Amino acid sequence: MDEQVTVTPEALCASGELVERGLAYVWDVLQYGQPARAFALRFDGRVVAYLNRCVHVPTEMDWQAGEFLDLDRRWILCSIHGATYEPADGRCVAGPCGRGRLTPIEVHEVDGQVYWYPSRDIRPVLFDAPASRSS
Ligand code: FES
Repeated sequence: MDEQVTVTPEALCASGELVERGLAYVWDVLQYGQPARAFALRFDGRVVAYLNRCVHVPTEMDWQAGEFLDLDRRWILCSIHGATYEPADGRCVAGPCGRGRLTPIEVHEVDGQVYWYPSRDIRPVLFDAPASRSS
């Protein structure tokens, strides 16, 4: 039987922080229990979010903090070797990312607030986690 995973939305940022094709909101997550970063940006009015990890080489992609889009503000462009992704769905459209796709993170906007939804593989960082106990 599959493990039942309870998904509780995590508050991410105010909707107003994500302007159309502007800077992304970048935050820390755990992927398979390891530190990673994710980003959310607004594209064609909709908030999309992905793990900040290029399909070509597993590294962060932003040019500067939160800057993921190309000069025309049309594509997500990896700053390392130029892999180019469709913002709407994370699909690779050019460059060395082949037939890959960015890892999506589910997000929703409600009443001026953006939330993200952890998955089995991508979890929130618990900053106030109690120290582990040994018995
Ligand atoms: S690491 Fe992104 S294109 Fe090579």
